[in-house]
Amino acid sequence: MTRIIDGKAAAGRLRDKVVREVQDLVAAGGPVPGLAVVLVGRHPASLAYVGTKTKMAEAAGMAGRLIELPDTTGTEEVLATVAALNEDQGVHGILVQLPLPDRIDAARVLGAIDPAKDVDGFHPLNVGRLFSASGRIPSDLLLPCTPKGCMILLEEALGDLGGRHAVVVGRSNIVGKPLAALLLAANCTVTIAHSRSRDLSGLCRGAEILVAAVGRPELVRGDWIGHGATVLDVGINRVAGEDGKSKLVGDVAFAEAQGRAGAITPVPGGVGPMTVACLLDNTLIAARARHRRQG
Ligand code: GUN
Repeated sequence: MTRIIDGKAAAGRLRDKVVREVQDLVAAGGPVPGLAVVLVGRHPASLAYVGTKTKMAEAAGMAGRLIELPDTTGTEEVLATVAALNEDQGVHGILVQLPLPDRIDAARVLGAIDPAKDVDGFHPLNVGRLFSASGRIPSDLLLPCTPKGCMILLEEALGDLGGRHAVVVGRSNIVGKPLAALLLAANCTVTIAHSRSRDLSGLCRGAEILVAAVGRPELVRGDWIGHGATVLDVGINRVAGEDGKSKLVGDVAFAEAQGRAGAITPVPGGVGPMTVACLLDNTLIAARARHRRQG
């Protein structure tokens, strides 16, 4: 029997915790946490994601602000927007939605965000802090949201992860690389596999924990999954269904995984909701840290 990991429910529990802690922060004389989301252009999936992020922030008792810049915006203008948000006392978290249009120097933009407001954990300083953490990850470190959500789901499903072999398929800066660092910090043996890996199916089959984060619809087939493995599917791919309507599928062939995986996250309703909940948690962490610094 394959257990379905309910990411929606786990995200609900995390959001409830954030709501309570936002109330505690404000009751203690702290600020209402403010999240600013910057979107450049009108990438259709990104439009939906940023709307969810700011709405969820509002629903958690925070101030959510969406800054939409036209597709023609250049790097310098995005940098000026980030600089203004860095100075804005009502903003505790800044997220620049990726992907940015090709014209824009994404590395410069991400590097310009105040590391204390970097709720994506993409600033080189925060990336460095994550990769150089020895032993426990500091609780106030701003971690990339999707990997942070993956770790919560894994620890809820499995308890202590120490000694387990985790295979992460995908080497992006958003998911694969930071997740590998978190799994390593949790004492897993970690393999990062990718499109150029030899014997990808064999590598996956050896995993006790298998995370698919490549953005390729149903790349991971049922017989790539070791019996009893815990599978997290990070992919969100829109494909044409048999009825002609589009539908969302993950990077794992979900139906084929039944009976092989010990537990698996569905798409939708698995890792996705955890990403947003972790963003809210990061915004709270950033607001609380600034309140502590400023007294
Ligand atoms: N695009 C896809 N995932 C993410 C994310 O976690 N943060 C940002 N900023 N952009 C993304």
